[in-house]
Amino acid sequence: MLTLLAFLTLILVYWFTKPRKQDTNLPPGPKPWPVIGSLHLLGEHETPFQAFTSLSKVYGDVFSITLGTSKCVVVNNFNLIKEVLITKGADFGGRPDFIRFHKLFGGDRNNSLALCDWSSLQKTRRSIARTYCSPRFTSLQYDHVNAVGCKEVSVFLVELKKKDFSQPIELKPMILAACANMFTQYMCSTSFNYDDSDFKKVVRTFDEIFWEINQGYAVDFLPWLLPIYKGHMEKLSSWASDIRKFILARIIDEHRLSLDHNLPPRDFTDALLMHLDEDPNLNWQHIIFELEDFLGGHSAIGNLVMITLACVVKHKEVVKRIQQEVESVTGGKRLPTLFDKASMPYTEATIWETLRTASSPIVPHVATLNTEIDGYTIEKGTVIFVNNYELNVGEDYWDEPEKFKPERFLSPNGNVVKPAHFIPFSTGKRTCIGQRLVQSFSFILLTTLFQEYDIEPACDLKLRPGCVAVPPDCFKLKLTPRNK
Ligand code: HEM
Repeated sequence: MLTLLAFLTLILVYWFTKPRKQDTNLPPGPKPWPVIGSLHLLGEHETPFQAFTSLSKVYGDVFSITLGTSKCVVVNNFNLIKEVLITKGADFGGRPDFIRFHKLFGGDRNNSLALCDWSSLQKTRRSIARTYCSPRFTSLQYDHVNAVGCKEVSVFLVELKKKDFSQPIELKPMILAACANMFTQYMCSTSFNYDDSDFKKVVRTFDEIFWEINQGYAVDFLPWLLPIYKGHMEKLSSWASDIRKFILARIIDEHRLSLDHNLPPRDFTDALLMHLDEDPNLNWQHIIFELEDFLGGHSAIGNLVMITLACVVKHKEVVKRIQQEVESVTGGKRLPTLFDKASMPYTEATIWETLRTASSPIVPHVATLNTEIDGYTIEKGTVIFVNNYELNVGEDYWDEPEKFKPERFLSPNGNVVKPAHFIPFSTGKRTCIGQRLVQSFSFILLTTLFQEYDIEPACDLKLRPGCVAVPPDCFKLKLTPRNK
C-alpha cells in the first residue's frame, strides 16, 4: 500500500512540476490533474458558472479548462460571447457528446434539436418549426397562440378552483398540465383531461427530463464511470420510450388518419407529416423526435412560471404592482390576453428579471473545426462554455445585480427595454426557437394567476442559481381567491 502511495505521489509531483508545452497558442488556464482534469474546481461553488467567473479573474476572459479528459474553453465577456455565437457561429455549431444526451434521444443525441450538432437536417428542422414556434406578433399564428393560451388557462382555473385553499397547494403539477395542454392544443389540436392518468404520467416524465437536462454529472466528463450510472442511464432510456408510446398512441395515430394533403396544415403536427412526404431527407424518426422535442418545451415554461412565482411572492411590492397593472387593464372583469401585454410592461419586466436572476445556462457549444477566439487557438472538438451567468449577474453589467428589481427593464417612460448583453435565449444560429411561446404562455398564466389569487410563500423558497428548473417535487404556495 505504501509503495502504491509513494508511486502515486511521484506521478503527481512529476505532473505538477513538468514544464508546460510552449508551442501552442491555447488560452491560459488551470493545470489539470490526471484523470479528473480540473473538475474539482467546479465543485467549490454552488454552480459551475460561479466557478467560471472566479477563474476568469485569474486567467482572463477566455480560458482553457480540462474537465475529465475533455478540452474546454470558457468565454466570459459579451464581446467574446458574440464572437462565438454570432461572428464565428458556424465554427461552433457542435454540441458535447455526453452519454446522457444519447440515452434521452433514442440512442443518438442528433435526434434532439437542442443537443445535435449543426447540420443541413437541423436547418430544415428549424425552418419547419419557425412558423409555429416563433410566430410573428402580427401574424394569424400569433392570434392562435393567444386563443389557445386563453382557452387552456380557463380550463386551468376551473381545475384550480377545486383545491382546498386553507392548505398550501402543490401548484407545479397543475401549471405543467396547463402548459402541456397549451402545447398539445397549439401543436397537435388536442388536449387532455387533468385526471387522465397517462397524461399525468407523461407530463411528470417530461418534467423529470427537464430537471435531468439541467443537471451536470461527473459521468458527462468521466465516461468510465458509466457502470456506476447504469441504473440511471436505463431510467433515461425508459423515460424516452414512455413518451414515445404516449405521443404515438394519443396524438400521431389519429392525426395521420385525418390528414388531408389538399388542405393547408391544421397545425405543427400536420406540417411535420406533410414535410415527411415531400422531403426525401426527412424520415419518420426525425418527425417524431421533432414533435416530442417541441412538446417537451412546455416543461421549460412550467418551470419558469414556478420560478417567477417563487421570486415574486418574496416581494410584496412586486405582487402589488403586477396586480394593479392587470386590474388597470382588465378591470378585473375578464381574463388577460396576449394583446394586453403591451399595456403591462411591469409584468413583462418581471418575467425578464426572473430570467436574469435564474440565469438559464446556454447549452455548451463545440468547435467543429480548428479556429480562434480572441486570437487564441481553439482546437476542433473543444467544448465551449458561454458564461451567461456572468452576463446576467456580473457587476460590470448591472446595478445591484443581486437585487430582484423588475424596473431595471423599464425605460424612464415605462417601456420595456433589454440591454444588448441580456441574452437568456442565446443568440446566433442556435438561438432558442421557443422564445415567443415562452413569453406568450408564461405571460397568460402569470397574469391570470395574479389577477385571480393572492399568492404567498408557504415555506423557504430557495432557488438554485444558474438553473431555470426546479425539482419535479418542489415548494407549495398559499393561494387565496381575490374579490370573491
Ligand atoms: C424558460 C424557457 C426557455 C429558456 C430560458 C430557453 C433558453 C434556451 C437557450 C439558452 C438555448 C441554447 C441556445 C444556444 O445554444 O446558443 C435554447 C435552445 C433551444 N430551445 Fe429554448 N429555452 C426555453 C424554452 C424553450 C421552449 C418552450 C422551446 C420549444 C417550444 C425551446 C426550444 C429550443 C430549441 C429547439 C433549442 C435548440 C436550438 C438549436 O440548438 O438549434 N426552448 N433555449
